Amino acid sequence: MTKPGRAEIDQVAEASIAALRAPSILNTQPWRWRLSGDRGELWADRTRQLAGLDPDGHLLLLSCGAALHHATVALLAAGYAADVSRLPDPDRADLVALVRQGRPSEQDDRLYRAIYRRRTDRRPFADERPSAAVLSQLRDAAERHGVHLHVIRADQATAFAAAVAHAGAVEHGDARFRDDVLAWTTRARPDRDGVSARNMVPPTPRDVAPRDLAVARPPALHPGPGQDRGTVYVVLALDAEEPEDWLAAGEALSDVWLTLTAGGLAASPISEVIEVEPVRQALRRLLGVGSPAIAMRVGVPVADLEPVPATPRRSGTDTVGLPGEP
Ligand SMILES: Cc1cc2nc3c(=O)[nH]c(=O)nc-3n(C[C@H](O)[C@H](O)[C@H](O)COP(=O)(O)O)c2cc1C
Repeated sequence: MTKPGRAEIDQVAEASIAALRAPSILNTQPWRWRLSGDRGELWADRTRQLAGLDPDGHLLLLSCGAALHHATVALLAAGYAADVSRLPDPDRADLVALVRQGRPSEQDDRLYRAIYRRRTDRRPFADERPSAAVLSQLRDAAERHGVHLHVIRADQATAFAAAVAHAGAVEHGDARFRDDVLAWTTRARPDRDGVSARNMVPPTPRDVAPRDLAVARPPALHPGPGQDRGTVYVVLALDAEEPEDWLAAGEALSDVWLTLTAGGLAASPISEVIEVEPVRQALRRLLGVGSPAIAMRVGVPVADLEPVPATPRRSGTDTVGLPGEP
């Protein structure tokens, strides 16, 4: 067997750096990369798991799945398929994936470019609705990972809005949930993580009220003139709920989000309906399409608004290193 050259590991190293831009629950960035030989190991970082909002670590795995998909997109942009083993070692459950440079493939940087443009956009969107053609592309993006994308229908809209509002009220009234939100919206600047007021919008009249993250500081992002009338709500749903399914949900979330960004749309996730288990079960019954893993609002951004500021990320020096458990 020939020894892997620098080139292979360099591609994976670059992919691990691009993957740092992945979205994560409250920007916890709950991952670490370890590079060795010809492969990158993606590890879940349990020290960044949210005890109140995510006691089972489902949203942590989902976030790691988004990072994994980002890495595969970066490899494809360099002209290689990604060779991925997911959750390869039952004795090391936090080893989420092994990523290697796979066979040469036709270079494709459409989604790669979207990595650097993608943002969580919590502002109300325009009145124009995303086209059926784009929604069908998003469905395909989710299905590539064995995940189903359900678009909330008009006859489900009121019940969905009620579920979001109810989950928000439950979280507001429970110190365990509130503590997590408080901790991750008041991080010190050098931590380079968490959600800052620069990315939060004040409440505006909307059918589906967005989560109130502004528990410590007033929101600083102007909501703009949008009314959210064309916004579409989607739910990613799973056939099963093993760790590999939650990981696939994250890969699907990333694929859907980068696809919609490349198509000029914008989005923000709604995970409170997943975090409050009775609400998640109510959503499952309402939709009848499998186990809800994450919901999302998708819309046409209002023309001429400034881009949402990029949220910080920890550096490669903090998150990419040599093998060994984190
Ligand atoms: C699993 C998951 C759940 C999330 N839940 C919410 C949510 O309920 N509300 C929200 O406004 N943003 C949510 N987000 C978005 C994150 O807060 C966001 O990705 C992070 O702050 C980084 O910002 P960026 O996406 O603009 O890079 C979620 C993201 C992930 C991956």
